[in-house]
Amino acid sequence: MAGKVTKWVQPDPKRQNWYWPTDALRERAWVSDAKVYEQAAADPPSFWAQRAEEIVWFKKWTKAYEEEPYAFRWFVGGKLNLSYNSLDRHVEAGKGGKVALIWEPEPPDEPNRIFTYKELLDEVARFAGALKALGVRKGDRVGIYLPMIPEAVIAMQAVVRIGAVHTVVFSAFSPEALRDRLLDCGAKILITADGYFRRGKLIPLKPQADQALAGTQVQKVIVVRRAGNEIPLTPGRDVWYHEVLRGQSPVCQPEEMDAEDLAFILYTSGTTGKPKGAMHTTGGYAVQVYATCKWDFNLHDDDVHWCTADVGWITGHSYLNYGPLMNGVATVVFEGTPDFPDFGRMWAVIAKHRVTVYYTAPTAIRMHVKWGEEWPKKYDLSSLRVLGTVGEPINEEAWLWYFEHIGGGRCPIIDTWWQTETGATCVQALPGIGPFIPTVAGRPFPGIQAKIVDAGGTPVKTGEGGYLVLEPPFPPALLRGLYGDPEKYKGTYFAEFGPKLYFTRDGARMDEMGNIRITGRVDDVMNVAGHRLATAEVEDALSQHPLVSEVAVVSKPDEVKGEVPVAFVLLKKGVQPSPDLQKELIKTVDQHIGPTARPAAIYFAEDVPKTRSGKIMRRVLKALVRGDPLGDISTLRNPESVEELKAVVGYKG
Ligand code: WTA
Repeated sequence: MAGKVTKWVQPDPKRQNWYWPTDALRERAWVSDAKVYEQAAADPPSFWAQRAEEIVWFKKWTKAYEEEPYAFRWFVGGKLNLSYNSLDRHVEAGKGGKVALIWEPEPPDEPNRIFTYKELLDEVARFAGALKALGVRKGDRVGIYLPMIPEAVIAMQAVVRIGAVHTVVFSAFSPEALRDRLLDCGAKILITADGYFRRGKLIPLKPQADQALAGTQVQKVIVVRRAGNEIPLTPGRDVWYHEVLRGQSPVCQPEEMDAEDLAFILYTSGTTGKPKGAMHTTGGYAVQVYATCKWDFNLHDDDVHWCTADVGWITGHSYLNYGPLMNGVATVVFEGTPDFPDFGRMWAVIAKHRVTVYYTAPTAIRMHVKWGEEWPKKYDLSSLRVLGTVGEPINEEAWLWYFEHIGGGRCPIIDTWWQTETGATCVQALPGIGPFIPTVAGRPFPGIQAKIVDAGGTPVKTGEGGYLVLEPPFPPALLRGLYGDPEKYKGTYFAEFGPKLYFTRDGARMDEMGNIRITGRVDDVMNVAGHRLATAEVEDALSQHPLVSEVAVVSKPDEVKGEVPVAFVLLKKGVQPSPDLQKELIKTVDQHIGPTARPAAIYFAEDVPKTRSGKIMRRVLKALVRGDPLGDISTLRNPESVEELKAVVGYKG
């Protein structure tokens, strides 16, 4: 039953493709007066302290914010627990019978698993008890390598409940990528599953985990039975999840965590070959994730929130797990893909569960645009109220399609800019305030200080392009460090502009209203189908092939994925290029990182353009694959290499 459909947005009478909230949306919104921006800016620590009052603290903080060069703290002296705020507080408030988690398995005919808050709390508490029984203590790192099943959320919640630190690794990452992360953080425990389903096929996962463990400190592996495939268990090391749960009490006191105690580490791509571990602490993260999830998506008790990101990414951490649960709404966990069993799957899931908030990546929307609007047309999408996007700039065509064919022209699109490092959204329009403009994310969230500067750190003029930076007081959820590498933390985020400006490494411009348009990364980080990846990582993987002598990877725009890596490979003396070698190189990338990092093209070359000091000129390679003007190449050591490459890539610039 569709019922009466409310219109949440209306077009701006003067400006094409600008939209504003209707009265119906304003009335329902947590904030509908733009004064909130000025009020928060006048005193950001008190703004955030007010937000913090809405969650539960075992002990209140004494000071909202303090700062010294390269270090800042929020809610000093405060004690809290993320899992308590996600689960117990709702049960204690009499909402234990409310739906907390809806699991949609990949096979369309397999039944859903639905957990109420009470049921989820019981399961989390039992698993937390089991982890304790296995010797996990406060501060210990626990690896999580799980597909999109309820146990992924349960495991994260159980780990933070006892004060341990989770490191979730995307299940499509290779064993080697998993090993690197386990080694770097020194995890003693790994939680994984036998397998999962993808496009109708059973994908074994445990064998991948087994390959990753050699040489790590992992002593225990907990295995969730999901797919029922036969897997070997190593005696003394491997235990079944359902067996460790047996006999555990559904009561497990949450650990009282200091606001600045480490909550989790999440590895992300920087500009070097090795991913770095972003460190997120408990108090600031909880407050900013809670508040942004509530205000960005205008969450109320009856919402069904579906964030399509995998739990292996920050978006899954903050807006599939902690954000919706801290807000007491139902969160959807989907194991499958948008194209199985057909192109209507996402819309079928929205209709089936009456989803009200849908949060996805532009790359997914561009895929749906290609598949056509006949797919969403088959389903009743009238339950939707708010649509969100994240991860990469959204182009106007995709925005308008999303708005029209998914939102029915009724729903605001909240384009949220943020990063693994920021932990929570930082720039976006708010539903009750607007405006909603294609390709423009919006204003910095109240209490967040962002500006756009030139290379010298001076603010640029309105409308001019520059670098997006964040100013103190820094956002509460901003990372506190890179695990095990304090120097790299300073060097990555505070080298360009000093300790008073956090450098996002994104380019942006701002209009006279303060709306920010993100233009993309200004470093060698790519956004491939919404997945963050460094060109250096792909280079590192390819260069491990024994026949490769040198390799350069650059990104190229792609209609659907936003960007894709392309590789220039120089082979060792006497080695002949061949299609088979190309396939082998792709396999090498799969093995070292995972299929998400596969180059869209591999060009074999005799030479690549270099500076006189021998550095590869990626700028020239980028221009070559994009068909852009090549600029000045007279200073190259080997300008003749460019002529050769023009033929190799079919350059018509
Ligand atoms: C990009 C994902 C444009 C940006 C949450 C950033 C965006 C990087 C947007 C972080 C957006 C994220 N518009 N670009 N709304 N959101 N980005 O760490 O380049 O996987 O620096 O975090 O994604 O990617 P990450």
